[in-house]
Amino acid sequence: MSDSELHYLISALRGYLDELRETGVDGLPYDDDRKDPVVPFVVAEEPASMTTDVTVGEISGCDSLENIRRELGDCRRCSLGEKRTNLVFGVGNANADIAFVGEAPGRDEDLRGEPFVGEAGQLLTKIVLAMGLAREDVYICNVLKCRPPNNRNPQPDEIESCEPFLLRQLQAISPKVIVALGTFAAQTLLRTREPISRLRGRFHDYHGIPLMPTFHPAYLLRNPAMKREVWDDMKTVLKKLGREPAVAPKADEKG
Ligand code: URA
Repeated sequence: MSDSELHYLISALRGYLDELRETGVDGLPYDDDRKDPVVPFVVAEEPASMTTDVTVGEISGCDSLENIRRELGDCRRCSLGEKRTNLVFGVGNANADIAFVGEAPGRDEDLRGEPFVGEAGQLLTKIVLAMGLAREDVYICNVLKCRPPNNRNPQPDEIESCEPFLLRQLQAISPKVIVALGTFAAQTLLRTREPISRLRGRFHDYHGIPLMPTFHPAYLLRNPAMKREVWDDMKTVLKKLGREPAVAPKADEKG
C-alpha cells in the first residue's frame, strides 16, 4: 500500500471513529482470546456518582482575558506545547452573551492561531449568523489550546493542564449561555459520560451558567440531517437570551 493510500485509509477511519464518538460510542471491544461473543461496540454509560450539573465554585468575573493569556505564555504544561504551531487561545467579544466551546484546534486553527477557522469553523460562523449575531459578537474557544497530533483525542493530562485556563476564561467573560460543541466539550465541561444525543436540547449548569450541549459542526458536515437538532438547540439558546433568530431557514437549508 502506498503512503497516500495509507493516509487516505487512516483519515477515513478517523472520520468514522469521530462519528461513532459523536453518537455516544466511546470504545470498541478488544478481545484478544475471542472467548466471548464480540459486542459490536460499547456505549458510554453515565456512572451513578456523576450528575450533569457542575456546581463546584462560582463564576466571579474578576480575572481578565489578557491576564490569563499572559499567564499561559509559551505554554509547555503538557506535551502538546512542543508540537503546536500556534497556541489557540480564543477569539471574540470579551463581554459576549454566548461562548461557544469546542474540542481542540485542528490543522487550520493550529496554523492560524484562531479557533474554528477550517471547514467546521465556517459552518459554525454560518450558525452564528443565522442566530442574528456576528462571529465578533460571541466568544469562541476550545477545551484544549493546542492541536493534538493528527487530531487524536485529547488525553486526560492535557485536559487537566488546560481546562483551568478555560474555566478562568469563561469566568472572565461570564456569558449568559455557554454552548458546548460536541461530545468531548460537553462531557468534559459537565463531568459526565452521557452521550451528546442525550445531553443536547436542554440546559445544564456549568458553575452557575446555563450550558447547552449540541452536536459539533464537524459532525454536521458528515450528517447534514442533524442540522435540524442543532438549529432547535440554538433557538432554545436565543429564547433564553430574549432574542429572535435572524433567519428561519428551512430544515435542509440550515448551515
Ligand atoms: N474543531 C474544534 O473543536 N475546534 C476548533 O477550533 C476547530 C475544529
